[in-house]
Amino acid sequence: MILPIYVYGQPVLREIAKPVDLNMEGLDQLISDMYETMKNADGVGIAAPQVGKSLRIVIVDGTDLTEDYPELKDFKRIMINPEIVEKSEETAEYSEGCLSVPDINCNVTRPKSITVKYINEKRETVTEKFDGFGCRMVEHELDHLEGHMFIDRVSQIRRKLIGGKLRKLETRNFRPRYKIK
Ligand code: NI
Repeated sequence: MILPIYVYGQPVLREIAKPVDLNMEGLDQLISDMYETMKNADGVGIAAPQVGKSLRIVIVDGTDLTEDYPELKDFKRIMINPEIVEKSEETAEYSEGCLSVPDINCNVTRPKSITVKYINEKRETVTEKFDGFGCRMVEHELDHLEGHMFIDRVSQIRRKLIGGKLRKLETRNFRPRYKIK
């Protein structure tokens, strides 16, 4: 089922998401709904707070980006209760966007690589190191679980420049390409 995407201004996007109880009723359904919602909106990542659920679940899927990033050919991950266990000192800059902040893209600097421990959709505990654009996708989504959005991490000048656009999003004075809340 396609769910509405919560857009900038919704308080749930600013909450610290709660750990998931693996016996939670409807967990697999929620994951499948999140995936469908992300795909429907042409997104490559989504976190549960973006569908209004304050839970520590993220999905990334770079398989549609293989033209630009061939290494993402099989890059699809479902992460429950992810934790960053290591991050590199070295940083990288990429342009980011977000389904909850439509029509805004900004360069963001973050650690170049991170190691994450998480539970996958088969309930297996996985420890995985990410690098390159795949790493960036994961970092962006994990930020949502802490109540952060990429626009918090851009320069002050850039933030000023997008101020007007953000106000339009906040007041819903824009035309969304997908169902929003
Ligand atoms: Ni996002």
